[in-house]
Amino acid sequence: MDRILIRGGRPLSGEIPIGGAKNAALPLMAAGLLTAERLVLTNVPQLADIATMRALVAQHGVAVEPRGNDGRTLAIGGAITNTEAPYDIVRKMRASVLVLGPLLTRVGEARVSLPGGCAIGTRPIDLHLKGLEQMGAAIRLDGGYVHASAPQGLHGADIVLAMPSVGATENLLMAATLADGQTVIANAAREPEISDLADCLAAMGARIEGIGTDRLTVEGVGRLHGATHAIIPDRIETGTYACAAAITGGSLHLRHARLDHLGAVVRVLAEAGVEVTEQDDGVTVRRLNGLHGTDAMTEPYPGFPTDMQAQLMALMSVAEGAAMITETIFENRFMHVPELNRLGARVNVHGASAIVRGVAALSGAPVMATDLRASVSLVLAGLAARGETLVNRVYHLDRGYEAVEQKLAACGAAIERLPG
Ligand code: EPZ
Repeated sequence: MDRILIRGGRPLSGEIPIGGAKNAALPLMAAGLLTAERLVLTNVPQLADIATMRALVAQHGVAVEPRGNDGRTLAIGGAITNTEAPYDIVRKMRASVLVLGPLLTRVGEARVSLPGGCAIGTRPIDLHLKGLEQMGAAIRLDGGYVHASAPQGLHGADIVLAMPSVGATENLLMAATLADGQTVIANAAREPEISDLADCLAAMGARIEGIGTDRLTVEGVGRLHGATHAIIPDRIETGTYACAAAITGGSLHLRHARLDHLGAVVRVLAEAGVEVTEQDDGVTVRRLNGLHGTDAMTEPYPGFPTDMQAQLMALMSVAEGAAMITETIFENRFMHVPELNRLGARVNVHGASAIVRGVAALSGAPVMATDLRASVSLVLAGLAARGETLVNRVYHLDRGYEAVEQKLAACGAAIERLPG
């Protein structure tokens, strides 16, 4: 297993290109199952999770064709010949459940392995299933699989989500595009990735109102046609590299980043003493003076994103004063705490909150990555720590960050990958 070695203490400066959003690309690739024609996606990030979704979508029978020569354009669509999403794929990536809605609404059946839990929580899919049942699907759980069928097709429904689940909103939105009649999804998640999906579905001929709000109204249509859609830049990659600039006392220009997608991240970083400004097709991030401890609570968009919680904790571990970070979305998303503490951080977890007492400096050590965002928080801490930090199990990192060591090294970081 590869490891990443970092020699910390070097302020970063320069430019980092921000890639396409992983959490937009994954549902968009599932949307390719909705059309017999070709959905052409551009700005597709080159990540392990994208490769997994490519394999999953392709094994349903539709074409998944690379276009151009940059590996960032995919044409997806065609006839569905297999309606099973197998356990060996789904267990690797929970987002696999996003094929459930498209399969069901396109061909009237789906057999999708239950994803099982993951490091950060149980992550059930009950809201997905309840919504699909309201739309007329018969759902049976058997042998670790969801057996879903709608031989007469799905029909519209008035759905109120018990919580603004990103995945449930995406699955139900895709299912509604080809359902018979009108579907309303109330208390829908409002993440930019959902608006990106909705914009793409509309370009494919779907009839959606309320895009960007917590109430989506969809008039089902008979079929969706092909389209070409550019995936939005990754706001979590943007926030992550913003923290890299801040934690090293440097200044970075994040090309292609969209300030309007960063939500509460801008406010929290500003309170911590980090300036994020829109500039030349991207954002520029620089630390003004010292870092100040700042409280944050993760919330659905536009609140502070749970996917930025571990990165903020790394930053707060070297701030002046204390910070209280509360995780309200997942029940077990503090696995990075003992690893940060190995680097000299002073973090105490009390239930859903972590108290971070800033220290003057971290000191490098071998650490273990446990999940995608926890692993990148260890890289951030390593960039600031004195001495060498060796991050193990970086396959977690490769799921969501493209060429992370190259992007950081190009801005002055002493970072290299040690092949495992
Ligand atoms: C998406 O996961 C993201 N993944 C996650 O990013 C992100 O952390 C999460 O949204 C929250 O923003 C993708 O987009 C591929 P949820 P998702 O459904 O859809 C509970 C990353 O690092 N819930 O909004 O699974 C659930 O247990 C990943 O890129 C139910 O109880 O998130 C969780 O506590 C990690 N029942 C909360 O809701 C359900 O049916 C939020 O889950 C569905 C969810």
